[in-house]
Amino acid sequence: MSVSISRVVKSLRPSDTLAMAAKARELRDQGHQVFDLSLGEPDFDTPMHICQAAARAMDDGHTHYTAASGIVELKRAIVQQYRATHGLEYAPTQVVVSNGAKHALHNVLTALLNPGDEVVIPAPYWVSYAALVELTGAVPVVVETAEADDFKLLPDQLRAAVTPKTKILLLCSPSNPTGSMYTADELGRLADVVLEKDLLVVADEIYERLVYPGHRFTSFPTLRPGLQERTMLINGVSKTYAMTGWRIGWSITPPEVAKAMGSLQSQETSCPSSVSQYAAVAAIEGPQECVAEMLAKFTRRREFVRRRIVEIPGLSCTEIGGAFYAFINISEHLGRKYGGAQVDDSSQWCLELLSQKRVAAVMGSAFGAEGYARLSFATSMENLASAFELIEEFIAGK
Ligand SMILES: Cc1ncc(COP(=O)(O)O)c(C=O)c1O
Repeated sequence: MSVSISRVVKSLRPSDTLAMAAKARELRDQGHQVFDLSLGEPDFDTPMHICQAAARAMDDGHTHYTAASGIVELKRAIVQQYRATHGLEYAPTQVVVSNGAKHALHNVLTALLNPGDEVVIPAPYWVSYAALVELTGAVPVVVETAEADDFKLLPDQLRAAVTPKTKILLLCSPSNPTGSMYTADELGRLADVVLEKDLLVVADEIYERLVYPGHRFTSFPTLRPGLQERTMLINGVSKTYAMTGWRIGWSITPPEVAKAMGSLQSQETSCPSSVSQYAAVAAIEGPQECVAEMLAKFTRRREFVRRRIVEIPGLSCTEIGGAFYAFINISEHLGRKYGGAQVDDSSQWCLELLSQKRVAAVMGSAFGAEGYARLSFATSMENLASAFELIEEFIAGK
């Protein structure tokens, strides 16, 4: 009997960001020095008080299965945080803790979508959105946003994309990959269309604490009455507390969705890691200076990256309001040779940059936007300085 892979999984492309990171690691393993700007994770270690809480949890015997949707201590901490920072009231039963925000997204989409339903996804989009929608048999409807609009979806674009089959609008602000942030006013005008067209919203707010001076984060359900009942919030500890490896994220949804997701999760993974959940409680309830310290470092790097992009002829990027990415326009530098190699698209550009200069970036095509590349500044200033020198040389054909 020949082994054949299911149609749905066969059609799945592996994550391009992880693929680029793997290529960079391969070169490093061969002994090359690689400047890796492909990663979507903070380069800081998890703060010590969080690690100590995990050790305490193990000492206290919290090494067993927990409730499928997560421990009540963590749900209470999350609910309290939303009350304190956004004035939003939720019951702990509306929270489902999952193995990272990516898993929370997968569960929300699986709980809500039927084959044929449509999900509006503004592009450039985070690599996993379209794949996670397709896994449910639903259809991603990708709407291209314009660089001139800072890659933000406009109300008329949303209105035009909606059909009788549209069920969900997927929003991400601050955005991976562009770093752009909607203002409250811009989000409010999208919310009006959401209400007018009777849509649900999945609001991925994982970068809400990584917001730069001059910008202000607004949680989507706060914008209009009636949004809380139709918004599925996605968040987690990965980016805020440098906890990517702990795999804790969550959704906050209407109670019936949370109940369905709890059942799904009980069949799927039993529960999120018990030790990591206790660590996440310490992250949320403990001292928050670590977040401010990391943000201060990201802020300095952002200034440096913006300056260097302006200095390199033919490169540009839009305003980086939050997260830790610059989405650079490389279109002027396509359709030419680099060290003898013809480079016509963003994928070839990133592969040549890696093989010729050992700088890893992610091609815009991975995010549904050809002619761009994503540079992550979740790496040290020294690495950024070296990487930008090499990018400058690469573009100058040296
Ligand atoms: C926009 C966005 N959402 C969700 C995630 C997933 O985060 P987690 O590590 O908690 O699964 C990421 C991680 O890169 C992200 O960039």
